[in-house]
Amino acid sequence: MEDDWDGIADWYAELVRGGSAMHQFSRDILLNALPDNLFGLDVLDIGCGEGIVSRALAAAGARVVGIDPTRTLIAHAEAAERVHRAGVVYRVDDGTTLRTVPDSSTDGVTAALSLNNMADLDAALGSVRRVLRPGGFLAFTVPHPCFEAPAAETISTPSGLRRVAGDYFAEGLWRSAHPHSVRRAGNYHRTISTYIAAVLDHGFVLQRCDEPIPTEAVRAEAPHRLGLPPFLLVRVVLA
Ligand SMILES: C[S@@+](CC[C@H](N)C(=O)[O-])C[C@H]1O[C@@H](n2cnc3c(N)ncnc32)[C@H](O)[C@@H]1O
Repeated sequence: MEDDWDGIADWYAELVRGGSAMHQFSRDILLNALPDNLFGLDVLDIGCGEGIVSRALAAAGARVVGIDPTRTLIAHAEAAERVHRAGVVYRVDDGTTLRTVPDSSTDGVTAALSLNNMADLDAALGSVRRVLRPGGFLAFTVPHPCFEAPAAETISTPSGLRRVAGDYFAEGLWRSAHPHSVRRAGNYHRTISTYIAAVLDHGFVLQRCDEPIPTEAVRAEAPHRLGLPPFLLVRVVLA
C-alpha cells in the first residue's frame, strides 16, 4: 500500500521532535521572513504538522491557530501543548478550504512545506485570500522545486555527492521511492514560475523570493545539499 500523511504521521512527528536540522532550518528561515514584531497579530499556520512553526510563532508573540488535515499530527501538536503550553489552538482542517476559519480573520498566514502537499494550489491561495485581513501576509516554504522534482536523485561523483535535477517541468503528484523521505507520502511538484504566477494571479504583491543557504547543521545532516538551497521561500502581501 502507498504511504500517505496518516501513515507517516507518527514517523514525521518523531523526526521533527528528534531535532531534525532541516526542519529547524525551515522553521527559522520562515520566522526570519516575517514582520519584526508579531506581538498581538493573529497568525494562521496552514499544514502545521506537529506544531514546530506554530510554537515558534506563539513564542514570538503571535496569537496562533494551527490547522492540518492529518488528525494524528494535530493530536501530537495538542499533546505538546498540554506538556508545554505555548498558547496555540490546533484544529483539523484542510488548507484548500479553511472551512473552520472565518473571512478576514487573520493578519498573517504561514505555510511551512505544506502547499506542496495540496493538489489544488488555486483553491489554497483563494482560501488564504479569503481569511486574510487587508494588508495581511502569506509566507511559505516549499522544497526547492529545482532540486526536488520528480526523478531527482543524488549521485556519487569523483568530486563528491551531486544532485541530478530530475523532471523539472513534470508538474503534479509524485512520490519519493526513498523509504526515509517525507515525500514518500506523495507531494505535488510545481515550477518556481507556477508558484509566483499563482500568487500574483490571486492579487498578492510579491515581497520576497529567497533561496536560503543551508546551515552547517543541515549540510552535516544532508551532505548532498552541498552548494544547494533546500527550500524556496516566498512572502507576499494582500494589496
Ligand atoms: C512536510 S509537513 C510540514 C509540517 C509542518 N509545517 C512542519 O514544518 O513540520 C507537510 C504537512 O502538510 C499537511 N497537509 C497535507 N495535505 C494538506 C492540506 N490539504 N491542507 C493543509 N495541510 C496539508 C500534512 O498533514 C503535513 O502536516
